[in-house]
Amino acid sequence: MPLVNTTEMFKKAYEGGYAIGAFNVNNMEIVQGITSACEELKAPVILQVSAGARKYANRTYLMKLVEAAVIECPDIPIALHLDHGPSFELCKSCIDDGFTSVMFDGSSKPYEENVEEASRVVEYAHKYGVTVEAELGRLAGVEDDVKVSDDKAQYTDPDEVQDFVTRTGVDSLAIAIGTSHGAYKFKPGQKPKLRLDILQEVSDRLPGFPIVLHGASSVVPEFVKMINDNGGQMPDAIGIPEEMLREAAKMAVCKINVDSDLRLAMTASVRKYLAENPSHFDPRQYLGPARDAIKAMVEHKINVVLGCAGKA
Ligand code: G3H
Ligand code: 13P
Ligand code: ZN
Repeated sequence: MPLVNTTEMFKKAYEGGYAIGAFNVNNMEIVQGITSACEELKAPVILQVSAGARKYANRTYLMKLVEAAVIECPDIPIALHLDHGPSFELCKSCIDDGFTSVMFDGSSKPYEENVEEASRVVEYAHKYGVTVEAELGRLAGVEDDVKVSDDKAQYTDPDEVQDFVTRTGVDSLAIAIGTSHGAYKFKPGQKPKLRLDILQEVSDRLPGFPIVLHGASSVVPEFVKMINDNGGQMPDAIGIPEEMLREAAKMAVCKINVDSDLRLAMTASVRKYLAENPSHFDPRQYLGPARDAIKAMVEHKINVVLGCAGKA
């Protein structure tokens, strides 16, 4: 089937109490690892491309890799989504390229500017059947070139969400309830916490409306250990506990963003392989297992966190 937007996916996910995985893609092995897991488990999927990924891989290569995945995985709905679009211009460029979904991220802008620019993106996107995600509240961590320090991280204010969604016409909303980008989400000794009460308040004000969680990697300890055991240095890497994310997926969260866990799986696999096989130098020898590690990670997410196996 051709690329789809997120409307049907989210409707079914909301009603079914599960979430769709939104995985960041940067190269061929990542696209293949994610989509082969989803095809095998019959899980719908969102492949998302950041501005950084577009710069790294080049927009044509990424587009063609995703088109190849659509041909290779005929049984599952795949959406191609722009992650953290900082401007109308980038959103427009992705829509013109054939993306089926875009995020306009105006979360670091003043509220009225966020409303204004998100509305402009919606007006353009909806003409082409493209769905739009926006964000209210700010996550700690790194979003492309925008760095948000811990003390500036803000939970989403439930009093703002109805006004924002009504005025902009966005199709889904990313909220800040304690997740953050990257592999260091909590300080050592700090108890991981997700404000599911804020999520509930938001969905009380927006019944039936799909909510998005960014920064939702669990930073699986097994892979952090594998990296550290094979020459890496990632002490104190900590993520969001999987059972908290599963709870959120049963509530109004329909899209769960994962990038760091894919990076960790791939890096752990490459480090281990090269440490164990110091004489090997054919990239296929270490990128093959790295692709398998991505696939296994995505299968794990589908089964343990998202609950979307068999929902294609
Ligand atoms: O939210 C950010 C994603 O992990 C993408 O990261 O901008 O380094 O590609 P990136
Ligand atoms: P993680 O860094 O937790 O994987 O979050 C990724 C993300 O939110 C992409 O938009
Ligand atoms: Zn994000």
